[in-house]
Amino acid sequence: MNRVEKARISDVAQMHQLINYFADKDEMLARPLSEIYENIRDYFVVREGERLIACAALHVIWSDLAEIKSLAVTEDSQEQGIGAQLVAACLNEAKELGTPTVFCLTYRPAFFEKFGFSQVDKMELPHKIWAECYRCPKFPNCDEVALIYRFEVPASSQD
Ligand SMILES: CC(C)(COP(=O)(O)OP(=O)(O)OC[C@H]1O[C@@H](n2cnc3c(N)ncnc32)[C@H](O)[C@@H]1OP(=O)(O)O)[C@@H](O)C(=O)NCCC(=O)NCCS
Repeated sequence: MNRVEKARISDVAQMHQLINYFADKDEMLARPLSEIYENIRDYFVVREGERLIACAALHVIWSDLAEIKSLAVTEDSQEQGIGAQLVAACLNEAKELGTPTVFCLTYRPAFFEKFGFSQVDKMELPHKIWAECYRCPKFPNCDEVALIYRFEVPASSQD
């Protein structure tokens, strides 16, 4: 199976192409090249030789919140567990960073529910996340579903 690795600058052109291929089909949000370069350290990728076949990003928002965004797997590589590997890599990094919650905005809620995400009202998310929504062509009529993943709080810190 192809490995999940951190993205490199040389992946950006193919990441941009992959994300915007699905954005053109209204399946996810478009990302400009500049935004991908600026946030390159957020991204994980899966490569098959020279070809990029999947990507996803974990973006830290605040002390208690991070977001999984721009998850995309090329059509001919779907249904092989690659999307699941990328979600696992993002959750693993979030756990290592110490963030207690991870959210996503998606048109594929059932996919994220498989990994323990639960649907929440978008209004429950902090206002800080709306900063990028103002740039979205769909704003203010967002039709994505919000989901949250909460890491279990260790028993010692519940007192
Ligand atoms: C959604 C997407 C990332 C899934 O990637 P994938 O590599 O095909 O997913 P996986 O093979 O890892 O699937 C993992 C599990 O989720 C299931 N699954 C896959 N796509 C699903 C969907 N759209 N809805 C519900 N379940 C889904 C699989 O059947 C599999 O279930 P199993 O473990 O019981 O067999 C991929 O279809 C994609 O890139 N779509 C276009 C862009 C997009 O919609 N991104 C979503 C986030 S914004």
